[in-house]
Amino acid sequence: MAEVLAELAPREGGRYLDGTVGGGGHAAAILDASAPSGRLLGIDRDPAAIAIAARELARFGDRAVLTRANFAVLDEVAGEHGFVPVDGVLLDLGLSSIQLADAERGFSFRSSGPLDMRADPDGRVTAADIVNSWAEKDLRRVFAEYGEEPEAARVAGAIVRRRVKTPFGAADELGRFVAGVKTRRPRGIDPATRVFQALRIAVNDELANLEQALAAAMRVVRPGGRIAVISFHSLEDRIVKQFFARESRDCICPPHLPTCVCGHRAGLRVLTRRPLRAASAEVDRNPRARSAALRVTERLP
Ligand SMILES: C[S@@+](CC[C@H](N)C(=O)[O-])C[C@H]1O[C@@H](n2cnc3c(N)ncnc32)[C@H](O)[C@@H]1O
Repeated sequence: MAEVLAELAPREGGRYLDGTVGGGGHAAAILDASAPSGRLLGIDRDPAAIAIAARELARFGDRAVLTRANFAVLDEVAGEHGFVPVDGVLLDLGLSSIQLADAERGFSFRSSGPLDMRADPDGRVTAADIVNSWAEKDLRRVFAEYGEEPEAARVAGAIVRRRVKTPFGAADELGRFVAGVKTRRPRGIDPATRVFQALRIAVNDELANLEQALAAAMRVVRPGGRIAVISFHSLEDRIVKQFFARESRDCICPPHLPTCVCGHRAGLRVLTRRPLRAASAEVDRNPRARSAALRVTERLP
């Protein structure tokens, strides 16, 4: 939180876009820091998050505008609400603690709720659809690519053999099954963590949405404005790092070409060579902050 505020430096009268408003914690801090006239557009694809944020941000009156949408199209949403250009964009990726704690949504391998995992309840595919019907090779690819799961092939094969007899129903049932199938115990995390991460990314198309959101953020931030992204695992962080790196170069031609033919011009200046980490006091208060990595960039004219 402290690092986000220092980097976005909200100012009186500024206009900000929070693409992952969640429980409204960051949004409230940005609105406090930009009082009395700063405004914020908060987006979330989860209607339950929007309802909570509306309550948390009610004290800011019409300085806070909330809307349910996918951040992949945050530029269109910002345009519709008269929020272009903005002084800063924040993306705090992944799930909120509120979503994780809701057993009915099946995000956690400890939850007895159905294997759902949709951040947007109107989404077409649930985790149960994937686990119970996708081909073994597709399960293997999802576990390997999105979960970086070293035993992807073993887990995919075991799931396909087991579901013929009984399809998977509850999240904790799959969690226990994966833990039983794996031969190696990862250190410090539950054996099902990577498989659950992979399913969540696939259900919500998280990586493609992130790519689109970064490009959209560049289109709405004014020159000198900033984009701050907090990611929680290496796949997300790599996408953010590579996007910022590409957009901060004047030429993106392949290195073997003698002269530039791409005409690409840098649109960003990277402010964080390495990702910023939460201070230990924040990690003590909120242990989930320990894996957060914050990257920040500034829009060039
Ligand atoms: C880590 S939480 C954000 C918490 C928030 N910063 C706070 O202070 O309370 C991430 C939020 O992003 C939302 N989200 C994830 N992917 C999204 C997407 N593609 N479009 C819109 N919201 C998304 C989730 O529903 C969740 O509420």
